[in-house]
Amino acid sequence: MHQGLTLHPVAVELSQEVRLSMWRAALAAYQTAYAPYSHFRVGAAVLDEQGRIHSGCNVENAAYPQGVCAEAGALSAMVLAGGRSLRAVLVLGQGERWVTPCGGCRQKIREFAQSDLPILLADESGLRASLTLQALLPYSFGPEHLELPLS
Ligand code: THU
Repeated sequence: MHQGLTLHPVAVELSQEVRLSMWRAALAAYQTAYAPYSHFRVGAAVLDEQGRIHSGCNVENAAYPQGVCAEAGALSAMVLAGGRSLRAVLVLGQGERWVTPCGGCRQKIREFAQSDLPILLADESGLRASLTLQALLPYSFGPEHLELPLS
């Protein structure tokens, strides 16, 4: 059903080199994921306004709700490094279906992004699709509602 999708124009603007670097970072994170309960590994890589890539993996917990998604880890790493604005996100997961950010992660991403943010979906073999934040989280609530300008 997802076959044959072309890359979103915004994602095409990301160079092949940057996309490859993001995929590699997400793959390395995926390989270190701590997912002993679901056995479902996820790696994420985010590109910040300085062109830096930060990555994260899912970290599960015996107290299940305390588990943390890969995207949350990558966003934490970006903020810790001083990054405040997203230019692209890549999520790498396993299985036949595209692994898209969960609802909570869409909102976490929204905090640091404009609606045209490319969200690249990948697996161990490579890039599978590109969507925008607008497509995944339409009519979203964000910092502007609280009169905080985007970085
Ligand atoms: N997971 C992520 O890390 N990111 C997502 O966007 C979807 C789900 C993780 C959470 C949990 O460790 C495992 O995947 C199964 O839900």
